Amino acid sequence: SLPRDLTGCTLVVTAGGTREPLDPVRFLGNRSSGKQGFALARLAVQRGASVTVVAGATAELPVPAGVRVVNVTTAEQMRKAVHQLSERADIVIMAAAVADFRPVSVAESKIKKGNDEPTSIPLVKNPDILAEVVKRRDQGELPVTRVIVGFAAETGDEQGDVLTHARSKLNRKRCDLLVVNAVGEGKAFEVDSNMGWLLKADGTESALPLSSKNLMASRILDAVSSVLHTS
Ligand code: PMT
Repeated sequence: SLPRDLTGCTLVVTAGGTREPLDPVRFLGNRSSGKQGFALARLAVQRGASVTVVAGATAELPVPAGVRVVNVTTAEQMRKAVHQLSERADIVIMAAAVADFRPVSVAESKIKKGNDEPTSIPLVKNPDILAEVVKRRDQGELPVTRVIVGFAAETGDEQGDVLTHARSKLNRKRCDLLVVNAVGEGKAFEVDSNMGWLLKADGTESALPLSSKNLMASRILDAVSSVLHTS
C-alpha cells in the first residue's frame, strides 16, 4: 500500500504546455501532453495531499480522482494561477512546459497569404514563473511553501551537456529539487515513459532510470517527502 506521507499537505502542480496566440487560429506551443504532471497529481492525492493542477494544453487526459484542475492557456495565465495558489501551497511542482517567448502582438484577424506575408514573428520573453516563485519565497511572501520542484527538459546525453545544463539551471533557478528529463524517443514529451536525473539543492544527484511516468512520479514524490521530513 502507498505511504500517506503527504497527508495534510497542499500541493500545486503545473502540467501540459502553454500556448501563445499569434492570431485567432494560430499559436506557438510545444509537445507537452501533461502526462507527467497528471501522474504526479494522481499519486500525490493517493499519498494524502490536497492537489490542484494548473493545466495548460494537455492531450485531453482524464482528471485524476480527487484532483482540482485550473485550466489555463498562456504562460501569463499560468503565472497568475500559480502565484495565487502557491500562497497556500506547501509544495509547488512545475512540470509544465512553459513557452519562454510569446509573439509581441496578437493579430485581431487571421494572418493571410498575400502581399504582406510575414517572414518572421517578433517575440518577447515570458516571465519565468519558477524563478518568480523562488524569489517570492525568499522575500517571505510564501509563508507555507517548503518544497519547490523545477523540471528541465534537455537534449543530449549524460556525457554530453544534459547534466551540465541542468546544474547551471538549478543554480540559476534555485529551486529545492530539479528533475532533469533527457528528451528523445520513448522519453519525456508525449509518451508514457520518462528518464533522467534528480538534482538536489545540496548538490546530491541520483539517476531516474527509464520507467513509466507513474513510477517517475513516485520517485519524485519520495524526494519531495524526504525534503519535507528533514527540513
Ligand atoms: O507533459 P508530458 O508530455 O508528460 O512531458 C513532460 C515534460 C517533459 C514536459 C516535463 O517532464 C518537463 O520536463 N517539463 C519542463 C519542460 C521544459 O522545457 O522546461 P524548461 O527547461 O523550459 O524550464 C525549466 C523549468 O522552469 C520548468 O519547471 C518550467 O516549468 C519552468 N519555467 C520555464 C519557463 C518559464 N517561462 N516559466 C517557468 O516557470
